[in-house]
Amino acid sequence: MAAKKHILLPEAVSGTIDIRCSFHSLIGLLVAALVVGAIYLTAESGYLVREEDEGHKLIGATNDTTTTSGCDLFAGKWVYDNESYPLYKDKECSFMSDQLACAKFGRKDLDYQHWRWQPHQCDLPRFNATALLERLRNKRLVFVGDSLNRGQWVSMVCLLDKAIPPHLKYMHNNGSSLITFKAKEYNAKIEFYWAPLLVESNSDDPVLHRLPERIVRAQAIEKHARHWTDADILVFNTYLWWRRPQMDVLWGTFNSSDGIYKKVDMLRSYELALKTWADWLEIHVNRSKTQLFFMSMSPTHERAEEWGQPEGGNCYTETEMIKEVGYRGKGTDPKMMRMVEATIDDLERRGLNVQMINITQLSEYRKEGHPSIYRKQWEPLTQEQLADPLGYADCVHWCLPGVPDVWNELLYAYIFNHTQN
Ligand SMILES: *[C@@H]1O[C@H](CO)[C@@H](O)[C@H](O)[C@H]1NC(C)=O
Ligand SMILES: *[C@@H]1O[C@H](CO)[C@@H](O)[C@H](O)[C@H]1NC(C)=O
Ligand SMILES: *[C@@H]1O[C@H](CO)[C@@H](O)[C@H](O)[C@H]1NC(C)=O
Ligand SMILES: *[C@@H]1O[C@H](CO)[C@@H](O)[C@H](O)[C@H]1NC(C)=O
Ligand SMILES: *[C@@H]1O[C@H](CO)[C@@H](O)[C@H](O)[C@H]1NC(C)=O
Ligand SMILES: *[C@@H]1O[C@H](CO)[C@@H](O)[C@H](O)[C@H]1NC(C)=O
Repeated sequence: MAAKKHILLPEAVSGTIDIRCSFHSLIGLLVAALVVGAIYLTAESGYLVREEDEGHKLIGATNDTTTTSGCDLFAGKWVYDNESYPLYKDKECSFMSDQLACAKFGRKDLDYQHWRWQPHQCDLPRFNATALLERLRNKRLVFVGDSLNRGQWVSMVCLLDKAIPPHLKYMHNNGSSLITFKAKEYNAKIEFYWAPLLVESNSDDPVLHRLPERIVRAQAIEKHARHWTDADILVFNTYLWWRRPQMDVLWGTFNSSDGIYKKVDMLRSYELALKTWADWLEIHVNRSKTQLFFMSMSPTHERAEEWGQPEGGNCYTETEMIKEVGYRGKGTDPKMMRMVEATIDDLERRGLNVQMINITQLSEYRKEGHPSIYRKQWEPLTQEQLADPLGYADCVHWCLPGVPDVWNELLYAYIFNHTQN
């Protein structure tokens, strides 16, 4: 099975990033490899999604906490809406990432920016940057996870950016795994913490994490967690870095001579890691203060035969979404999703609520939403690459503005509807 590599060369990074400086490079620096050793599972038959409308109920307009639970925000359809979307322009976002700024890097078909997610039974609340900043006053919102989560964090920063005057915001990164965007007037921090496997691993370096061997300490998370445990809102993800048949699991510490290594079936090691994560949260999170979210798997579009096109293709040149209701690609692993659900259910029994934001199905349709070749290439492309754009097309991450903005609209709906104060 051919592994697809998206290798973006990191450069050195440190120091406070002034907003006058280009943030473009910052993200690029932090982005290194996403080596996807893919395992493909048999696709189950598609879900049936009801198509009829039942009189849209507006949620988020009131403080009624039952509204979100009364409507499944994740079952719906994409509606073309070039009046309200995109929610921001890529050029206007001071902190856009060159990895995701597809229009800037030559993409001409821009319809991927014009889609609104329409749940079947209600409307998503309108994203109000000022209202969210108010909600985040004196607080920390931290995204913890891999480059997909980082993309969502960039989207969130772009969604808030316009509402903050230039001298009242800054981006800080000191070369560690934590990047902080701060809205000074609100004393609000919107942060990203790099931990692609959530637990400790040999891929934890925010810049240099492109390693052939992947090793996890499935029972150790404190090295990371100490940086985010006191946050007010936590948004986790972890999925793509697990997509290989087996993981090397380490008992003991890195580089110590008495470490015990064992190859463990991926699903089992995922379960071990999620348990470590859940146990940490149960013991350390202040449940009267912290809202917890888990972003479900972000689907990839690396195999055109999955949506009925000739073998060998991928998302490159795709300009339209998949129309088949309930479509699911083979790169999406429902067993892993169920594992997350089971972990979250178990945590709930222990008195801690984590809301899963189920972005998988709605993103499955969006084969046209990936950067493909339209992003900054960190190394000059070789003749072979130029001759084979398929080979270096990124069908994993998402263009901005685009799909992750909708993930944040969903997150927004939950942040307001499950407010505990
Ligand atoms: C996610 O949402 C889709 C669409 O509503 C649904 O078919 C699927 O069962 C959901 N998955 C989970 C784990 O909730
Ligand atoms: C939206 O799209 C329609 C149909 O493609 C077009 O006629 C209209 O001018 C567009 N509106 C905007 C604001 O771009
Ligand atoms: C956005 O939220 C702010 C603060 O809650 C409020 O004053 C404003 O009216 C809202 N804007 C819209 C368009 O709803
Ligand atoms: C970077 O910032 C983090 C969080 O504020 C801090 O824990 C860490 O020590 C800092 N690292 C350096 C090299 O300054
Ligand atoms: C382990 O060793 C490698 C190289 O020998 C080094 O780069 C790395 O920083 C070490 N890791 C720890 C956690 O000490
Ligand atoms: C938990 O958070 C609440 C609300 O912010 C605070 O009043 C309380 O002191 C915190 N509890 C602990 C043990 O820190």
